Amino acid sequence: MRTVDLIRKKRNGGELTAAELTHLVEGYCNGDIPDYQAAAWAMAVYFQGQTPEETAILTELMARSGDQLDLSSIPGLKVDKHSTGGVGDKTTLIIAPLVAAAGVPVAKMSGRGLGHTGGTIDKLESIPGFKTELDREAFLAQVRQIGLAVIGQSGNMTPADKQLYALRDVTATVDSIPLIASSIMSKKIAAGADRIVLDVKVGSGAFMKTVAAAEELAEAMVAIGKQVGRSTSALISDMDQPLGYAIGNALEVEEAISTLRGEGPEDLTALCLELGAQMVVLGGKADTLAVGRALLEGLLHDGQALGKFRDFVAAQGGDPGVADTPAAILPQAASRTEVRAAAAGIIQSIDAEQLGAAAMRLGAGRATKDDAIDPAAGVVMVKKVGDAVAAGEPLAVLCHNSTGSAVAEAAELVSTSYRIGIEPPEMRPLLLSVVTSEGTRRLAKEAGK
Ligand code: URA
Repeated sequence: MRTVDLIRKKRNGGELTAAELTHLVEGYCNGDIPDYQAAAWAMAVYFQGQTPEETAILTELMARSGDQLDLSSIPGLKVDKHSTGGVGDKTTLIIAPLVAAAGVPVAKMSGRGLGHTGGTIDKLESIPGFKTELDREAFLAQVRQIGLAVIGQSGNMTPADKQLYALRDVTATVDSIPLIASSIMSKKIAAGADRIVLDVKVGSGAFMKTVAAAEELAEAMVAIGKQVGRSTSALISDMDQPLGYAIGNALEVEEAISTLRGEGPEDLTALCLELGAQMVVLGGKADTLAVGRALLEGLLHDGQALGKFRDFVAAQGGDPGVADTPAAILPQAASRTEVRAAAAGIIQSIDAEQLGAAAMRLGAGRATKDDAIDPAAGVVMVKKVGDAVAAGEPLAVLCHNSTGSAVAEAAELVSTSYRIGIEPPEMRPLLLSVVTSEGTRRLAKEAGK
């Protein structure tokens, strides 16, 4: 088989067979196929797309390229959740104990943050003593015992995706829906869950800028799940402004705990209930989304979700008292600086990406993977879209240990990310569409942007 013939076939709109895709992926990973030929194929896919069969085959090849987790020793249907990434997205911290309290086992691998979005592992590590590195046996035993464990990603999972993603990043081929879909799903499949729930974000703080593009990506991933026997569903949710109020590691843990107590922000609570409902339905613990939502609401309000979080923190070496008195246990920033509104009006929009960048500038995130982070640093929003503000009133509070130019730069980023106007803004609902193997259902008429 000659690589050039496969590139030409794809360039001309043909469909590659399993053998041809195996030649490409394995050949690229073992060094037989050079970067320039792999890049030419990725560009051909960018322009010609892939059939659902090609995308499923590519996904499985990448999933099988390195270590895979075998969760079969854990009884029941294991359901994983993935978000395409957003600012202030602390949903895993809430949903994992919530659905575990409903009887769905969660054996989750999560990542660290890079750039303007934070990672679940960094957030959990802000809890004193919390260990995110467990050996495989301890990880599986913990899920069998308490129904829940979250650890960092193992070094050798989906190496083919890592290599191809790095190539796509420098050849302008990242934003191809079939390539994004297979990249995300390969990691979920290697992580071993039987069922997968996806939160596909749309908006200024997200990869996908339109609802139609987000639905297309979700449909591609749901189709892969079906083809490879891992039932998958997805929710399309708005990321035109950060989720909840807190951005930054310990700050987000604190907000997650108040949500687990049933006292969280409305948007964050609604999103967690919706994604959690999809998980309990796929996990066989509820017949419909409405039943699942009601079950989870009960667990938030009767203390069982918070109790599961407490057990989870204790099992991984953290101080379980964080569930009861988070402010006394989590690291706190030495200084708080308010960013005030220059004019009165109504908040029209908030640039989520820019707020994420402000938190990062204060030390909450890393620019390169070796940077240290400050767990206490971040931004707490005071105003959100649609809120009225008086001149001089705080828009947000910077929490920082750093001083000087970093704080001034973060304040400027926060201040310019808020757009204030006179008229009430048109607000897009948070929950936009549900995508399952049965089709795509719009939840809101206004979703069509
Ligand atoms: N996230 C991924 O994991 N892969 C992509 O290709 C794009 C975003």
